[in-house]
Amino acid sequence: KNNKLIAPSILAADFANLQRDIEMVNSSKADWFHIDIMDGVFVPNISFGMPVLDAINKHAKKTIDVHLMIVDPDRYINTFADLGADVLTVHYEACTHLHRTLQAIKAAGMKAGVALNPHTNVSLLEDVIQDIDLICVMSVNPGFGGQSFIENTYRKVGQLKEMILNKNASTLIEIDGGVTDKNAHELVKAGADVLVAGSFVFKSNDPLSTIEDLKNLANN
Ligand code: DX5
Ligand code: ZN
Repeated sequence: KNNKLIAPSILAADFANLQRDIEMVNSSKADWFHIDIMDGVFVPNISFGMPVLDAINKHAKKTIDVHLMIVDPDRYINTFADLGADVLTVHYEACTHLHRTLQAIKAAGMKAGVALNPHTNVSLLEDVIQDIDLICVMSVNPGFGGQSFIENTYRKVGQLKEMILNKNASTLIEIDGGVTDKNAHELVKAGADVLVAGSFVFKSNDPLSTIEDLKNLANN
């Protein structure tokens, strides 16, 4: 059985104590840093941009997983490669030529991810799945942390898992939004490989042990 990964979402960190929170993740059982970039156009919120990611990258000692919630992401692929992104995820709904975008991400030296909004059917990825390193299943509507988990996600993860096995692909399934100790184990059972968690980690009294709990729930 392969190792299931935990990716704390920095969107829920204390931005006035960003270095402290990054060091906390460095010293934790977490596997990745999840970085949410929002443009106020694709989603109704603006998070942070390049200078902040540059600062994060100077301290982060783990894989940097960048989730772009922006229109026309092709414009910034090389910029995010230069800023240290290891995985670059674009939204299915934001890409007219998704296959081309995925090739450009890989040509820039990163793993290529595709995120699906809650209403987007997983079957739409059937013809491009071999080219995708990671599928980010949104389990809330993107734009904000702290929302509650959409239960239909389990069904989507199951369908995706089946598609990945049928096509003999090695695509990882990531879950983003409303992940807690209540759904972590069930999500992995349904086929998830990476669990993103923002508020559940950073708003807890002891983020280090919350991360460890999630890691155990995902791997037991
Ligand atoms: C939502 C973001 C998520 C968010 C998750 O648009 O993509 O990564 O930070 O936050 P929680 O875990 O609080 O739902
Ligand atoms: Zn995200």
